[in-house]
Amino acid sequence: MFGKRTGGPEVKATPPQVSTTETPENSPNAPETAKPVAEATPPAPVELVEDADTGSAHNDMFGDERNRYNETKQSIFASLVEAVDLTELGKLDSAQVREEITDIVGEIIAMKAMVLSSTEQQALITDICNDVLGLGPLEPLLERDDIADIMVNGAEKVYIEVDGRIELTDIRFRDNAQLMNICQRIVSAVGRRVDESSPICDARLLDGSRVNVIGPPLSIDGATLTIRKFKKDKLRLQNLVDFGSITPLGAKLLSVVGACRLNILVSGGTGSGKTTLLNALTAFIEEGERTITCEDSAELQLQQPHVVRLETRPPNLEGAGEITMRDLVRNCLRMRPERIIVGEVRGPEAFDLLQAMNTGHDGSMGTIHANNPREAISRVENMIAMGGFNLPAKTVREQISSAIHVIVQAARLRDGSRKITHVTEVVGMEGDVVTLQDLYTYEILGEDENGKLIGEHKPTGLRPSFWDRAKYFGREQDLIEALGM
Ligand SMILES: Nc1ncnc2c1ncn2[C@@H]1O[C@H](COP(=O)(O)OP(=O)(O)O)[C@@H](O)[C@H]1O
Ligand SMILES: [Mg+2]
Repeated sequence: MFGKRTGGPEVKATPPQVSTTETPENSPNAPETAKPVAEATPPAPVELVEDADTGSAHNDMFGDERNRYNETKQSIFASLVEAVDLTELGKLDSAQVREEITDIVGEIIAMKAMVLSSTEQQALITDICNDVLGLGPLEPLLERDDIADIMVNGAEKVYIEVDGRIELTDIRFRDNAQLMNICQRIVSAVGRRVDESSPICDARLLDGSRVNVIGPPLSIDGATLTIRKFKKDKLRLQNLVDFGSITPLGAKLLSVVGACRLNILVSGGTGSGKTTLLNALTAFIEEGERTITCEDSAELQLQQPHVVRLETRPPNLEGAGEITMRDLVRNCLRMRPERIIVGEVRGPEAFDLLQAMNTGHDGSMGTIHANNPREAISRVENMIAMGGFNLPAKTVREQISSAIHVIVQAARLRDGSRKITHVTEVVGMEGDVVTLQDLYTYEILGEDENGKLIGEHKPTGLRPSFWDRAKYFGREQDLIEALGM
């Protein structure tokens, strides 16, 4: 079945060179290891696991032990590449591949008379299968559900974000070529390529995780891969309450805001939890409402039945065929939406979203990258100015102030915790200025001995101007409770 394998002797191994204490010259990357030596005379057994009483899998290894494991793995991998055609292997289903690889690796180990504990052999086979089938060393990270982001800075450094904190892992790639191969495999799934001529690419993994690749020569120390992992179960408002991102009463206020079909802008920095918050707010959309979502890559998970999901498209290799967010939002308006949800407002689509909000699509929402509610407003203004609409600043501000009702600010604080720091209402205009009033704020009061910030969420005591609307939707009582009035 595999041309290379059936043709030759069992396994073309290179026994004499294999040793767990390889010197660089006879490492598997050196060309001479590639020379097949058919009739191998069994070399003296090489003890790989003198002190393997811990039976450690590769993940718990340190220093020398891991180096030895990696060297052995590399040499076995090199022999495997010699013996079989990996692209052919990649066409089989994963169970078959595993079976094939288990067989072949067993043969290679026997040929080379290596001594491996069964745990090590298993770990090795899993690693090799991951290389052939999946994303190699990243697989164990992708399986973990507690990781928010995976950041690969070249072959040697892989960072992860867990619980709001960034940490270095002991995961390594064999070399930059392996890393680049994996990048290539990821982006080829969405019909793209990364190479020197187009070194930047966005893609998505099968599980929905978002991926950005920037390769050499732009990225100087090897390809850089950033994965925002897709959470299968998005956090709900109750989870945010449990994490202390907002108080129960603050959550109640958000539920009123969502249920009264106010137009909401979720503002925050990168990774502050905007998308999560937006998703949580969509829980207040009623079952029958026709909702259209526009995203760069579909992340939102709406529970309602009547949802149309749209996604932008990057240009193809020739630079043609791009569908921008603005194209989607404009098209959306012809689809009889009741609510429009824009994953991330970052360009001229801001204008179209405002138009939509101002023309009866109440309850529309979007996220925007800004550090506070005031900045969110000026960001929208800038996006419209940059879009070349040639409108007087005052007109734009009037549009903004009548379109957007509430800004919810998310922030990732320096202790790694994520908080909702403001629920702010857009009240109207005073002269040339859009007036805002905070309804609910988070104030940092200090820090405990572990460096965790101590703070307090509380209502400001101001009466929202959407009071009558809350009454109209039967949520006046909730509003009174939420604001402690
Ligand atoms: N309040 C929160 N508490 C803990 N983790 C959160 C919270 N909000 C979001 N997260 C997590 O933080 C990561 C980034 O959130 P996301 O909503 O994608 O950020 P953004 O859209 O602002 O870039 C996700 O893994 C998400 O699950
Ligand atoms: Mg986001």
